[in-house]
Amino acid sequence: QTIEQGNFEWSAPSNIALVKYWGKKDNQIPANPSVSFTLNNCKTITKLAFAKKINTGNFSFNLLFEGKPKEDFKPKIHKFLERIEIYLPFLKDYHFTIDTVNTFPHSSGIASSASGMAALAMNMMSLEKALNPEMTEEYFYQKASLLARLGSGSACRSVKGQVVVWGNHKNISGSSDLFGVEFPNAIHDNFKNYQDTILLVDKGEKQVSSTVGHDLMHDHPFAERRFAQAHENLDKLITIFKNGNLEEFIKIVESEALTLHAMMMTSMPYFILIKPNTLEIINAIWKFRNDTKIPVCFTLDAGANVHVLYPNKDKPKVLQFIQDELVGYCQNRQYICDQIGNGAIEI
Ligand code: PMV
Repeated sequence: QTIEQGNFEWSAPSNIALVKYWGKKDNQIPANPSVSFTLNNCKTITKLAFAKKINTGNFSFNLLFEGKPKEDFKPKIHKFLERIEIYLPFLKDYHFTIDTVNTFPHSSGIASSASGMAALAMNMMSLEKALNPEMTEEYFYQKASLLARLGSGSACRSVKGQVVVWGNHKNISGSSDLFGVEFPNAIHDNFKNYQDTILLVDKGEKQVSSTVGHDLMHDHPFAERRFAQAHENLDKLITIFKNGNLEEFIKIVESEALTLHAMMMTSMPYFILIKPNTLEIINAIWKFRNDTKIPVCFTLDAGANVHVLYPNKDKPKVLQFIQDELVGYCQNRQYICDQIGNGAIEI
């Protein structure tokens, strides 16, 4: 089948890891399995227009970000196209216009690589399906996640499902290093509509990219123990997702966040991405949890922002606490209310 021109549009959400991916092998293969909550409100919406052209052996695309040409994202997209070409051999037969917007504020310090690469991968998969219509839905989403992984590792967890595992784990059936899979077992109601309020502590550019950070795990003195720990923590989460034990959930999630940053602080060269206000917030959360017994906890990405995780039923009290005691630690008092979501959607 040949198709002359057309367009697709997909939205894909960001995700927040509970067990962190930090360290990788060649071809974006993770050094350890990870699991994340898919988010709902923080997302990228990408329209892909395509038109058939003569194959001159080069990729051809323009990139629009919030309606304007964006040259500095182009090398990343080019690298992505190079990596996925073996899976989508038609790429050089088309000129693409990639038109993308994020729902979260520009340079808020929220990584858009997961949502952005997932949204682009979904669009590319739609074109693949238009050209080769005979594929199952399972194949479609699996391959979309595989493509997204080649854009940005964590992006493969932004395709489908509320709780997504990426990386082979002996007790999670179907889990793979090549793509993310929806957590296969039933999840306790305590996690239904779980909330994630993202406190924007520092909106500046990261001093150390996650690519460099992953690489520093190669000669890291604690790498092997850390990778084994991720397997163990994922095992514990399997039980926790089943029994809904939030006290145990908090222990794993906060330990994972601090371990991620401990790996950064103990690599060579070492670096620190958290800020004084990150620590102020963590201490305030611990005090609030101790005083109220509300099971609220924090996690961190590769940056200073704090994700505050809590059950839906505690939302009024936790939001009050955030407004009263935490927004003062945020840049321009900014924070984003999000919650667990379902993955990418075609528009
Ligand atoms: O997807 P990358 O290469 O930007 O790595 C992201 C890694 C963390 O966000 C720090 C952890 C994770 O599992 O998402």
